Amino acid sequence: MINSYKVYLLLFLLIVNSCESFIKRPVKAAVVSARKEASDIGIEIMSKGGNAFDAMIATGLALSVCYPNAGNIAGGGFLVYRTYDGKYGSLDYREKAPLLANRDMYLDSIGNILPEKSTLGGLAIGVPGTVAGLFEVHKKFGSLSWETLVEPSIRLAKIGYTVTKKQKKSFDSNRDKFIEINGKNTFYGKNFKIGDKISNLEYANTLELIKKYGKSGFYEGINAERFINSVKQSGGIISKDDLLAYSPVWRDPIQFKYKDLLITSMSPPSSGGVCLGQLFKMIEPYNIGQYNHNSSESIQLMVEAERRSYADRSEFLGDPDFFDVPTNQLLDSIYLINRMSDFNWNQASLSTDIKYGELSIRESDETTHYSIIDKYGNAISVTTTLNGSYGSKVYVEDGGYFLNNEMDDFSSKPGSPNMFGLLGNEANSIHPEKRMLSSMTPTIVEKNKKLYLILGSPGGSKIITSVFQTIINTYEFKMNIQQAVSSSRFHHQWMPDEIIFEPNKFSDYLIDDLKSKGYLINLDKSTSIGRVDAIMVDENGFITCGADPRGDDFASYFRQ
Ligand code: DON
Repeated sequence: MINSYKVYLLLFLLIVNSCESFIKRPVKAAVVSARKEASDIGIEIMSKGGNAFDAMIATGLALSVCYPNAGNIAGGGFLVYRTYDGKYGSLDYREKAPLLANRDMYLDSIGNILPEKSTLGGLAIGVPGTVAGLFEVHKKFGSLSWETLVEPSIRLAKIGYTVTKKQKKSFDSNRDKFIEINGKNTFYGKNFKIGDKISNLEYANTLELIKKYGKSGFYEGINAERFINSVKQSGGIISKDDLLAYSPVWRDPIQFKYKDLLITSMSPPSSGGVCLGQLFKMIEPYNIGQYNHNSSESIQLMVEAERRSYADRSEFLGDPDFFDVPTNQLLDSIYLINRMSDFNWNQASLSTDIKYGELSIRESDETTHYSIIDKYGNAISVTTTLNGSYGSKVYVEDGGYFLNNEMDDFSSKPGSPNMFGLLGNEANSIHPEKRMLSSMTPTIVEKNKKLYLILGSPGGSKIITSVFQTIINTYEFKMNIQQAVSSSRFHHQWMPDEIIFEPNKFSDYLIDDLKSKGYLINLDKSTSIGRVDAIMVDENGFITCGADPRGDDFASYFRQ
């Protein structure tokens, strides 16, 4: 008798479990980010009544605790938002060149690039924008107190975060550099194991300062002293005046149409929005949906658009406060149709033959992305970075955090590639207080006037192409958001002239076919491309998330 009860109970539980998706209450809000701890903290804030902007601040700070390779308070970023009633905006909290910077600061006396000066150690550090950015978001949109938003990250820094397998690999491959730059007793010089809990009390204290004094807790007082000391000791030039002078800027985002989509993304000093707009407009006349996903034809079309857009990027894009960026011209439909006029289905273009476009009038390796939607329908797309993994590797020992190496995003010398192989020119030359050009592409997409996608990615130069492919995957190839995020990616950036593929995902047949048409393919550089964290809202208002399996990325939900 008891046994048959047990069998009935088991059967009942099995049925309930298999019906879980039917009995679950609908998702009201979601956060998808590089770490579970951070996504959960975003949800915690929204369950206390906070909105998506509150959650953005809390999630960003949580990433700075548990994802120190890219989450940060001493880096910078961009966010694009769409409010519940359809208003758009964006915030630029990108780093700036220090007051003492100059255009040749990474060149020796005969004009050669000094290796590693723009990537490693003090001289690589840009004036950080993150805390000023988060504080600005709170001033304009916050609904809970600032203290409430900082508190969960202080708790996380004290209790500690768990080292994942991927994170251990990342620590292991950077440990020697941490020690070279900061000395053998440096906090992240320890040999952490999978499952270890890392609590960082120095960092908890820094966050306490930020909680108590807001923006000034970072840019002034004891933290400013610590920051400047670390910069000086590692050979940098950032001064207190630089810290005091920093302020983020609200900018009009880039908006363009692709079929019945309205796509909104970041404007200069990010190249993301302009390049994304160029890519979509260049492929629009070809109706890519008629070809298969990752077929020769769809890859050719996207690669040829990428080649042309990245060539324009190198010439025309930079900080609009210092250089007249010809945004309207670059996004002009006729200009972009002409740009593709020499595209030939049978023969690849050569990047050496593709220069930046002729404009008739010149108008006056590590980042993290997170996407949030709240129960009101406010949507935020945020990408933030230290640039390389753990930035300059300079660690503020008594403050518990890493400093960026964003200066490498400037063009140190025309024609010399930066760490992402990107070229640049006058538009992106170094100048005191100028913002370095970025590829970060936080993006929001509307379909038929309704919110449709919130997405973005890390990946340096590969960010733009990752975002491009993810939107194409959902809209043209009809994938659900998780498939669109997970499916394999490829990349082309004009120079070097080569297609990079994710390893072991593309058939020999496809690669041979592209080679026979003259495409240059570099399988030695095969690597994981981007880590997209995305949210999709379907026409009935149902929310689903895509967390990128290439990382430890995680979607947390709030159901009411
Ligand atoms: O702003 C940029 O374009 C770069 N600093 C982003 C760096 C990055 O995505 C590295 N991530 N893997």
